[in-house]
Amino acid sequence: MNRLTLTQCRQMKKDGDKIAVLTAYDASFSTVLEQAGIDVILVGDSLGMVIQGQESTLPVTVENMVYHTQNVVRGSKKAFIIADLPFMSYANQEQAITNAARLMAEGGAQMVKLEGGPIVIDIVKQLVDRGIPVCGHLGLLPQSVHRLGGYRVQGREPEQAQGLIEAAQQLEQAGADLLILECVPASLGKVVTEAVNMPVIGIGAGVDCDGQVLVLYDMLGITPERTPKFNHDFLKGAGSILAAVTDYVKAVKSGEFPTAEQQY
Ligand code: KIV
Repeated sequence: MNRLTLTQCRQMKKDGDKIAVLTAYDASFSTVLEQAGIDVILVGDSLGMVIQGQESTLPVTVENMVYHTQNVVRGSKKAFIIADLPFMSYANQEQAITNAARLMAEGGAQMVKLEGGPIVIDIVKQLVDRGIPVCGHLGLLPQSVHRLGGYRVQGREPEQAQGLIEAAQQLEQAGADLLILECVPASLGKVVTEAVNMPVIGIGAGVDCDGQVLVLYDMLGITPERTPKFNHDFLKGAGSILAAVTDYVKAVKSGEFPTAEQQY
């Protein structure tokens, strides 16, 4: 097996080697990401917004995810590939197992990602028991955007922050091997990262996470109208997409990204 493994990701956390992650949705971009030295590619349901032009990730289907995951996998050989379980595709255990199995068997993903804390714990256990690696997703949950009242920073209140720390630990105990932590204060990003053994990949969660992820189209400056504070346009001045992604990988690995201005 030539692809990066979860054992290697865990070792990177122990060694303090940062994990560079980007989203991708097709073979051409996944090839470029790999040439630039990306460790992990996330086939995110953000494709609903950046590929399909939807207002949120909610309309994305399992079919969409299988199709885009297949394309990303075909374009890559070394990266570890995570695929998102889309909105309501894991609302009960049977559904979660069927859909996660599709992303792995048909799509070719090495791991599935799902959003939420206590509500998904039993589902995480079931998936892991059946040999499906799981990445959790806490903080800002795009699939819950309407309940959250918009794309807002999470965990600013002490009680909410404590809830996120405990949810991360529960996910790990249930068998999750990775965690995406989105849009929380940098101080909380650090605490969550230190509270678990699994690698924590931040997006707007501060420089102390074990790695960073951005939406590819955001970091290439293609979506300026909805660019969050934690984003950086790596294409500006880079000269090519390969150079931009290479700069991103270097900036994540060296701890230069995110800067103090790119965190909460
Ligand atoms: O769907 C996605 O791209 C994601 C990232 C925002 C982490 O989940």
